[in-house]
Amino acid sequence: MSHLRYEKQEHLAVVTMNRPEARNAWSLEMMARLADAWEDIDGDPQVRVAVLTGAGDNFCAGADLKLMHSDQTDNPWHARFREDPGLHWRAMLRSYRLKKPLIAAVEGYALGGGTEILQVTDIRVASREATFGLTEAALGLFPLGGSTVRLQRQIPRTLALEMLLTGRRVSAQEALDWGLVGRLVEPGTALKEALELAERVAACGPLAVQAIKRSVYETADMAEEAGLARELELGQPVFRSKDAREGPRAFSERRKPVFKGE
Ligand code: COA
Repeated sequence: MSHLRYEKQEHLAVVTMNRPEARNAWSLEMMARLADAWEDIDGDPQVRVAVLTGAGDNFCAGADLKLMHSDQTDNPWHARFREDPGLHWRAMLRSYRLKKPLIAAVEGYALGGGTEILQVTDIRVASREATFGLTEAALGLFPLGGSTVRLQRQIPRTLALEMLLTGRRVSAQEALDWGLVGRLVEPGTALKEALELAERVAACGPLAVQAIKRSVYETADMAEEAGLARELELGQPVFRSKDAREGPRAFSERRKPVFKGE
């Protein structure tokens, strides 16, 4: 059984971490396949949006703690990491931000790397019974997925530090209240909700969507004036696209727009 399921349908890609027997903890195979999936999503012009989820009622239990200190040189996937030292950082989306929107659908546990990769998703849906946490410090480890840098930019610093320094589990309600996730849904329906959101993203103009995502992240740490200047650079070309003519035309003709990403 492949450690990652990667499925594409029309404009949607669904990435499913698939080691339910290990609560979807990351193996070398899963990480290599994650990196491949991200590359394919951004490289395939058909794909407009992706959903990240986990198999078997859990999102992801992070790094594989059992394999962490074992010799994996005879693992057939090891060669990929030896040949490509940046592979694991791209897999975790630590060193690479997807150009296309990524929506998280969280059921069950999202611990360690599960909560780390969550921070590079753009829209986050979770079950009311989901559990989050950055358990690394409690294990004597460091959350190298980017959490000491990113989490304080996403939730208040004292709450980020509470998570990081105690390793305690955070309930779905806390995650919602703190803004770590955007919405809670009934258990078992996170993927359905995420797919509905993904359909909405996919129905938008893909050039607009990608430029908007880029502008939000690129300007996040800029002063307002510099941010607004960058926004113009990224936003104005969208107005010169065919899609920018199609949207208003479709409105006038009382029909749904047909965007081509041109
Ligand atoms: N690495 C390796 N194996 C893991 C794992 C991980 N991160 N998380 C869970 N597993 C394995 C367990 O060892 C167990 O395997 P076994 O059946 O061979 O004994 C199986 O997954 C089920 O885990 P279990 O703890 O029995 O299930 P649970 O539903 O009671 O608890 C968790 C699930 C996720 C809360 C618990 O497994 C856990 O705390 N995992 C560690 C998560 C973590 O701190 N990750 C951060 C890594 S830096």
